[in-house]
Amino acid sequence: MKNILLLNGPNLNLLGKREPDIYGTESLESITDVLVHEAENLGLELISFQSNAEHELVDKIQAVPDLGVQFILINPGALTHTSVSLRDALLGVGVPFIEVHLSNVYSRESFRQHSYLSDVALGVITGFGSQGYSFALHAASRYLGQRED
Ligand code: DQA
Repeated sequence: MKNILLLNGPNLNLLGKREPDIYGTESLESITDVLVHEAENLGLELISFQSNAEHELVDKIQAVPDLGVQFILINPGALTHTSVSLRDALLGVGVPFIEVHLSNVYSRESFRQHSYLSDVALGVITGFGSQGYSFALHAASRYLGQRED
């Protein structure tokens, strides 16, 4: 079975409570539960990890070869706009990834409109709320050549 790693960065543990007008009312746990199910139906295993610490996310990305992960879905939160080390880690392991944002970062403050990851991502999904994770999962599934009935 192919493995997909779902990474969520700082403050995404607060989903549901945090600025619900921007990020919605669903918790990260409930979003992840749905995704794990969707992944199972696609014949994939989803491994989920959230951290508020940049180095923990870098460590998890570095562990990708040992975890047998073929694809990464990542919402880096605010690290999107600051983190050269996440970019370097993703390039370092060379596993394709999709960058996901719940909000439409292009309709918000100008500092959110630059990403250190987008130009090296397979694609970016932004502005569709929690559905964006599901879109990304289906895109990853297609990319990995899984059957979709
Ligand atoms: C976010 C957008 C980022 O700018 C912000 O810092 C987040 C969440 C999103 O999902 O819309 O923490 O990545």
